[in-house]
Amino acid sequence: LCLSCCSVFRFILLTGALSLPAENCSGYRTCGQCLEQPGCGWCTDPSNTGRGQCIEGSYRGPFQTAVPAPSTLPGPTSSPASQPALNISMCPSDTKYNWSFIHCPACQCNGHSQCVNHSVCEKCEELTTGRHCESCISGYYGDPTNGGSCQRESLGMNMGQGLEVRG
Ligand SMILES: *[C@@H]1O[C@H](CO)[C@@H](O)[C@H](O)[C@H]1NC(C)=O
Ligand SMILES: *[C@@H]1O[C@H](CO)[C@@H](O)[C@H](O)[C@H]1NC(C)=O
Ligand SMILES: *[C@@H]1O[C@H](CO)[C@@H](O)[C@H](O)[C@H]1NC(C)=O
Ligand SMILES: *[C@@H]1O[C@H](CO)[C@@H](O)[C@H](O)[C@H]1NC(C)=O
Repeated sequence: LCLSCCSVFRFILLTGALSLPAENCSGYRTCGQCLEQPGCGWCTDPSNTGRGQCIEGSYRGPFQTAVPAPSTLPGPTSSPASQPALNISMCPSDTKYNWSFIHCPACQCNGHSQCVNHSVCEKCEELTTGRHCESCISGYYGDPTNGGSCQRESLGMNMGQGLEVRG
């Protein structure tokens, strides 16, 4: 049900019938999560590992959402400043970046493995495991998605689990 809502939303965005206010896409760490948000697209970097960045945008490309410093002069020049502007250079395909808005690329190894045959994570490095190198190997913890790291589980971590720091 949610998926079909998203599809409808995406279709509306695709046809340009509605433009949503820019949302903060940068917190989404996988292409899958990113593309579930209407108004967010994924820019895969050239590493061939699926690593990338979730950015506000449309099917045409990423939007520049940083609001420029407000003009000191009052007048009509200040009003278009908040409008997000398409900027293809933020995900330049001529240098092997790849913008996705509807479907994620097949290669999704979270930055921890090269892809072979377009989609297979050849060997998950940096203490990661899983089909998409999305988990830490046993005995390590962390969030390895999108190039994140895994650390050794320390005794202190385990003992601190029941404690609360009050401030
Ligand atoms: C967007 O989210 C990221 C990560 O959650 C955060 O670091 C950043 O400050 C947020 N930016 C804005 C403009 O809210
Ligand atoms: C578009 O994005 C590129 C890369 O982030 C940046 O260097 C450039 O200034 C931007 N163009 C505009 C018009 O803001
Ligand atoms: C770019 O991403 C699309 C999916 O959004 C995928 O079909 C295509 O193969 C990708 N291109 C490259 C060069 O990886
Ligand atoms: C890649 O594809 C080739 C040909 O289909 C196959 O022989 C090979 O085993 C595949 N490699 C992996 C890692 O899946």
